Amino acid sequence: MTLPRPATLSEPRPDGRGGYAYDIREGDRIIGGCELLLSRRRPRRLQAKMWLDAESDRGRGIGTHALTALVDSAFGVLAADAVWGQVAGTNTASLRCAEKVGFVTYTRQYGVHFMQVTPKQENG
Ligand SMILES: CC(C)(COP(=O)(O)OP(=O)(O)OC[C@H]1O[C@@H](n2cnc3c(N)ncnc32)[C@H](O)[C@@H]1OP(=O)(O)O)[C@@H](O)C(=O)NCCC(=O)NCCS
Repeated sequence: MTLPRPATLSEPRPDGRGGYAYDIREGDRIIGGCELLLSRRRPRRLQAKMWLDAESDRGRGIGTHALTALVDSAFGVLAADAVWGQVAGTNTASLRCAEKVGFVTYTRQYGVHFMQVTPKQENG
């Protein structure tokens, strides 16, 4: 999967619990990661998590492209019917990143946004 050069998202790696883990790489260096976690009650609805390790790698568009590739993988490779995530209302970068990829807040609890994207909503 191709991200803004030179960052790339690895192929999915089973996490041993029914979900998948991915590395975000810049050349040989792992600069972050993301996961798609399985929910038992609805196996085709996956929970996304993502992080870039270094502050200096954030705010360069890598997160948005990695999340786009992650959601594409969820729908295109893993046949998910929805991807959801939890984002603190104070985490502007993460909220904005999710919104740009098509995630919509469906409920809020104690300042945490519960957001979801379905194949139709992806990329707006
Ligand atoms: C959340 C995270 C993955 C986003 O990735 P990123 O590469 O930093 O984000 P992008 O550069 O793609 O930016 C996405 C949007 O957020 C905005 N943004 C980025 N950093 C920001 C900041 N510090 N404050 C406000 N807005 C910010 C960008 O401007 C962009 O919006 P725009 O296109 O409307 O301008 C990354 O910042 C990160 O790893 N943070 C720490 C871990 C974390 O919070 N993970 C998510 C937990 S829910």
